[in-house]
Amino acid sequence: MLEKRVAIITGAGRGIGREHALLFASLGARVVVNDLGGAPDGSGSDTSAAQAVADEIVALGGEAVASTDSVSDYQAAKRLVDTAVETFGELHVVVNNAGILRDRMLVSMGEQEFDDVIAVHLKGTFNVTRHAAEYWREKSKGGDGGDRAIVNTASGSGLHGNVGQTNYAAAKAGIAAMTIVNAMELKRYGVRANCIAPIARTRLTLQTPGMSEGMGQPVFDPENISPVVAYLATEACPFNGQVFSVYGGSVGIYAGWSIAEEVTTEGRWEVDQLAKAMDSLPRKVQVNSQMQALATAMGAGGTPA
Ligand SMILES: NC(=O)c1ccc[n+]([C@@H]2O[C@H](COP(=O)([O-])OP(=O)(O)OC[C@H]3O[C@@H](n4cnc5c(N)ncnc54)[C@H](O)[C@@H]3O)[C@@H](O)[C@H]2O)c1
Repeated sequence: MLEKRVAIITGAGRGIGREHALLFASLGARVVVNDLGGAPDGSGSDTSAAQAVADEIVALGGEAVASTDSVSDYQAAKRLVDTAVETFGELHVVVNNAGILRDRMLVSMGEQEFDDVIAVHLKGTFNVTRHAAEYWREKSKGGDGGDRAIVNTASGSGLHGNVGQTNYAAAKAGIAAMTIVNAMELKRYGVRANCIAPIARTRLTLQTPGMSEGMGQPVFDPENISPVVAYLATEACPFNGQVFSVYGGSVGIYAGWSIAEEVTTEGRWEVDQLAKAMDSLPRKVQVNSQMQALATAMGAGGTPA
């Protein structure tokens, strides 16, 4: 289904990204396996992470090249896009998946912990997408408007909130918003942008307090996440600007920020009248939360990374 599609997959040396890379290659894609190879908190680097997955794909008869560029570096992200085009002559798909965690309660969170998480997730997604979009705009101007796809990675933490993750949740909510804007802007160049909010057993979730215990079940196998990402990357896929919840065999489409109920008046509200009117609004609106589904699946409390 992805025959000859050229795909960049960031953070593909481990966890969910590695499964994306292996599935994409098995479906005929030519894959740029990008991974800085650092620790879960983003410190350090290890070139073998990306290379090992690229080697595995080639050993299985597929096509892949390794990239160890950091997505958080604007120029390195340009190199990553160039690597795809120089190696395989094209670029059809970008899967923004690289990620780190620096969990901390807000009152203790340091500036660096905030900045580093935003840099990898939010800016990293912008960086790679920005350079890919420029390449695609040029292709489109040159008359080649074939279907291209961006698949971003958000999180239930960003869509529903999660204690200890001010930095990460803000980045992930931003990625969901960026997806919607990019989908609107890039449609004219034949580019679709969608986003997933996954739950899976990886080193990130295994280090999250309260999560590791129930994560041994097959429903949390990271390879469960990849089929929907592969589908969103296919040429015939009609979805654009959507956010999907994914875990086990479940794929849900989010309704986004949706106005549940409202109060209205002619002209402008007086504050005291508004206060009375707003008394009719619910204090909390019930939504189908992925966090709740996760807690049920784990048979206890718990939240996705
Ligand atoms: N595992 C879950 O349940 C879950 C839940 C919600 C969202 N996510 C998201 O899924 C994505 C994959 O996470 P995972 O759970 O597989 O974790 P992981 O740690 O196994 O994989 C993330 C990979 O990203 C790489 N990376 C980090 N910084 C990078 C950078 N600057 N440039 C290039 N590569 C970099 C890491 O080296 C690592 O191999 C992340 O965006 C994460 O936030 C995961």
